Amino acid sequence: MQVIKYMFQPHGDVRGQLVALEEFKDIPFTIKRVYYMYDTGEGVRRGFHAHKSLEQILICIHGSCKILLDNGTEKKVVPLEKPYEGLYVNNNMWREMFDFSPDAVLMVLASELYDESDYIRNYDEFLKFVKEK
Ligand code: TYD
Repeated sequence: MQVIKYMFQPHGDVRGQLVALEEFKDIPFTIKRVYYMYDTGEGVRRGFHAHKSLEQILICIHGSCKILLDNGTEKKVVPLEKPYEGLYVNNNMWREMFDFSPDAVLMVLASELYDESDYIRNYDEFLKFVKEK
């Protein structure tokens, strides 16, 4: 499984760092939605779904967390620890987020608006879905 992690270019000077993200330049899709998670409780694991067509980039803009990626045959755990790194998560990929530090803010850039019908929330259904592809 190929893990695509983008390293964004911070504009740093004596004042600090600034990261700018533009669609089709830094992000390979139209950014139709942004959401973020914070105040994630200790030991919480979330996600547990795949998407039929949604593409996303996950950026832990503060603190740290880990992402489990599972394409149905292979699993990989990717740590997100820097505000300038973005993990690309394609469709047909089961994902779980865990090991959130208490100060973690996980921001997600998404290629589509929220659509519950794009979710596959059952793991066996996911395996069936990727097998049929
Ligand atoms: P949920 O899918 O449970 O999050 P996770 O996959 O991280 O476990 O989403 C939590 C709630 O937020 C749920 O009621 C749906 C809602 N939600 C939106 O309204 N819009 C969104 O873009 C997202 C991602 C979730």
